[in-house]
Amino acid sequence: MERRKFINDLGQVTAIFCAGAYFAACSKSDDNNPDPGNPGGGNARLSANLNSELTSVGSSKINGSVIVVRTATGNVAASFVALSLICTHQGCTVGFDSVTTGFKCPCHGSEYNINGAVTQGPAPQALTKYNISITNNVLTVN
Ligand code: FES
Repeated sequence: MERRKFINDLGQVTAIFCAGAYFAACSKSDDNNPDPGNPGGGNARLSANLNSELTSVGSSKINGSVIVVRTATGNVAASFVALSLICTHQGCTVGFDSVTTGFKCPCHGSEYNINGAVTQGPAPQALTKYNISITNNVLTVN
């Protein structure tokens, strides 16, 4: 193979590869729901389809460091609570206990009730609470 033809062929292969990478990147940006924990898409911290998720009292869903828990029947915002799972003491991730419906920090033992209020220190303040909205049976935590 001549040197000139080799360089020419290499250029064509490179162009095809770059075009493929370009279109792959485009298809990703068109995906409205890249986060499986957020079926509503957008900038929501978490969302859930209430037709199939969070259907029973005490059920929960986590996305990253955000949890939403169903506390009552009915698909209205007041039937849910959305909290940060980050302990206000030193930032460990708290765990949710669906039996006691409370949160406990594994690092130094702080405990929080279902509304995020401190029930046992050393945590100095409540877990961060987030707003919930429900539209067309899709719950969104903002
Ligand atoms: S970090 Fe949670 S109790 Fe210390």
